[in-house]
Amino acid sequence: MSDTHNHSGSAPRGFETTAIHAGNTADPVTGAVVPPIYQVSTYKQDGVGGLRGGYEYSRSANPTRTALEENLAALEGGRRGLAFASGLAAEDCLLRTLLSPGDHVVIPNDAYGGTFRLFDKVVSRWGVEWSVADTADIAAVRAAITPKTKAVWVETPSNPLLGITDIAAVAQVAHAAGAKLVVDNTFASPYLQQPLALGADVVVHSMTKYMGGHSDVVGGALITDDPALGDDLAYHQNAMGAVAGPFDSWLVLRGIKTLPVRMDRHSENATRVAEMLTRHPRVTQVLYPGLPEHPGHEIAAKQMKAFGGMISFRVEGGEEAAVEVCNRAKLFTLGESLGGVESLIEHPGRMTHASTAGSALEVPADLIRLSVGIESVDDLLADLQQALGTD
Ligand SMILES: Cc1ncc(COP(=O)(O)O)c(C=O)c1O
Repeated sequence: MSDTHNHSGSAPRGFETTAIHAGNTADPVTGAVVPPIYQVSTYKQDGVGGLRGGYEYSRSANPTRTALEENLAALEGGRRGLAFASGLAAEDCLLRTLLSPGDHVVIPNDAYGGTFRLFDKVVSRWGVEWSVADTADIAAVRAAITPKTKAVWVETPSNPLLGITDIAAVAQVAHAAGAKLVVDNTFASPYLQQPLALGADVVVHSMTKYMGGHSDVVGGALITDDPALGDDLAYHQNAMGAVAGPFDSWLVLRGIKTLPVRMDRHSENATRVAEMLTRHPRVTQVLYPGLPEHPGHEIAAKQMKAFGGMISFRVEGGEEAAVEVCNRAKLFTLGESLGGVESLIEHPGRMTHASTAGSALEVPADLIRLSVGIESVDDLLADLQQALGTD
């Protein structure tokens, strides 16, 4: 991985070093090498307005959250990181900061179902308009932009179809129209992909996924390199209040220390699983950007360090057959979410993406999504083979 840039004026450090050290200064009181969980709501003031260390109330700022936010900014190569109670809370804060009634957003034709629901059922109620484009097709993005467009929203790789968008190319199109480019980097993580360096204005994360990495915390993040936008987002974070709590911040900070080694293993295991699936007689299509036949393979190879741990595939026999495979898996746990060390399997049409039914984002009924974990890969291959059956 190339060196991560920083804004402190000190020498650039490698990504692995940044993941472990950024924001993780030894506790000034005890010297504890890991930031403590400051499980506190308020702070003693030395006289009215006399703040020790700048903290007054934990919605505005909390030392454990600050440690995480500094780490997030460093990992994505931005100036400002902000941590939220969930990925959707981060998205909500971003949308209310960027948009006013009458504004327009371009959203992708493949995205997490909850993101689509936020646009379709919530944001549209306050007079913000959106239209859908295949963001892998730069001409389609350009055509979807209107004079009212304030933001272009991209997920790459996308959830659940693993579509790839050329971030640098979309950034040019968005900026030419005076719109901001938002990239949901949840599937890749900053270890595999650095959207700000490619021209994005804001990076979004569901930290529930690879950043936390252990299926034990729900959280979200926004990172930007634009100081004015960073201040505006921080203002709204405090004004709206959906902040990450101290314990959740600590769990994510802990998870991030192993992000590089986890992502390498997720990517290696997923490559093996994708190769096995392409050869399986019951599998009709495998969606994994690491496969040379994937339409976004070359762009993914250009903008990602490796191809990540997410795979979707389609099976013969339609929806019932797909559901049956999900139900038969044993080591792959049937469940929503992704990005943990343990492998998960799910049926997007009935589970994570049920809210897209009947829309332009509806997913194929015979689709199965895998979050390939970091278990022994032979065990993962054997489990999928038994779940798919041989008949
Ligand atoms: C790509 C992506 N973005 C955003 C979210 C929303 O994050 P959260 O569930 O933490 O609110 C998810 C959740 O699955 C996701 O997969």
